[in-house]
Amino acid sequence: MKPKVYITRKLPEQIVNDLRQKLDISMWEDEAIPVPREVLEKEIEEVDGLFCMLTEQIDESLIEKATNLKIIANMAVGYNNIDLQSATDKGIMVTNTPGVLTETTADLTFGLLLATARRLIEATDYLKNGQWKSWSPMQLTGQDVHDATLGIIGLGRIGKALAKRAKGFDMNLLYYNRSRKYDEEKELGIEFVSLEELLKKSDFVCVMVPLTSQTSYMIGAEQLALMKETSVLINTARGDIVDEHALYQALVNHEIWAAGLDVFEDEPVPLDHPLLTLPNVVTLPHIGSASIATRMKMASLAADNLLAGLTGDTPGNLVNPEILTMLKGNG
Ligand code: DGY
Repeated sequence: MKPKVYITRKLPEQIVNDLRQKLDISMWEDEAIPVPREVLEKEIEEVDGLFCMLTEQIDESLIEKATNLKIIANMAVGYNNIDLQSATDKGIMVTNTPGVLTETTADLTFGLLLATARRLIEATDYLKNGQWKSWSPMQLTGQDVHDATLGIIGLGRIGKALAKRAKGFDMNLLYYNRSRKYDEEKELGIEFVSLEELLKKSDFVCVMVPLTSQTSYMIGAEQLALMKETSVLINTARGDIVDEHALYQALVNHEIWAAGLDVFEDEPVPLDHPLLTLPNVVTLPHIGSASIATRMKMASLAADNLLAGLTGDTPGNLVNPEILTMLKGNG
């Protein structure tokens, strides 16, 4: 009998067809709307594998319902939507999709930085709304990106790819990370500083850390107060890393100049959210990795991980590798 799998969102046909050769697949057929919790609760009871998105909360109470589950393959590099401890305790492998989305997400992050600094969305609206009556000296003026200082919080794969792009704009590079990255410092000419120093000195602050209990609300009122009045905050990582209420206050009180956000504490962000009322906030619907090629690669990598986990191989992107010893121990 083929292992049973549930896929929580409609995937490209080619990926599903390949998986069907070896697995017994059920899938939530909607592309735009996430699988309702009660459907997921029912489906998880008997399946051997779960292929899920960052929109599903795979928490302890859901994991408890699983009786045969061996692997949760997340189609994202971030896996803060999964209770890793509960999965590990239950002997369930968890995988993510690192690497394949690095460059695409760095492209989007730099694009958002440019759009925010040079007010591209506001300028487009200005033109389309018929407000453009004449060229004028200080009309829609923004902040220069070239020669400015970029502070990267979290010099992982995407942070590093962002630094490479910034070098092309002759930016001065600072970073803050849990541990120092000596090779990257040499390669990119990027300087390691404390978080406080980064916030004080940077013209652009980019949040590039994963969401964990340590990084939740890492940027709050106290941190925003350290930034320059002319500085810009960019977040393409996870919404909960920045305290949105504090960010709104900092923008309204002109403590910082603008913000570019691809991620929010609640997604989709409610349309009456105060941040959406501010012209100097550029907002995107979590599209960091959204190129056709990259989303295909992410789906394919998650599928490879799932298949490996269900056919006796070690998945390439296991985020709880300690499980291998546990599983060996169990025979
Ligand atoms: C991820 O992979 O974690 C991104 O947020 C979505 O691509």
